[in-house]
Amino acid sequence: MAKQYTWHKITDEELIREHEINVLEVSNKKICFTRYQGQVYAFAHKCPHAGGMMADGVIDASGNVVCPLHRYKFSVKNGYNCSGEGYYLKTYPTEQREDGMYIGLEKTGIFGW
Ligand code: FES
Repeated sequence: MAKQYTWHKITDEELIREHEINVLEVSNKKICFTRYQGQVYAFAHKCPHAGGMMADGVIDASGNVVCPLHRYKFSVKNGYNCSGEGYYLKTYPTEQREDGMYIGLEKTGIFGW
């Protein structure tokens, strides 16, 4: 089944900087953002391996986020674990619209959990 998203406008878009990891709160959820080659990407705040804070990691030259704890690498584009440990970093779709940047959060239960 296709994923369904609710789209949220990012009000602090100017805080998302090239090659940095910036944490913003969207819908009471902390999400990491970066800009890589001009494009905005969004991904989970915590590492899928052992909960490392991705915001303390770095973006490498190939556009991967490197976790600060054990240095596993994940593509910011799709969460692919390119260092090969078999984990998957959650990523979120972003979309540039006329009135600004939006992020899509998956719709979950009917109560929005
Ligand atoms: S917690 Fe991120 S690589 Fe281990």
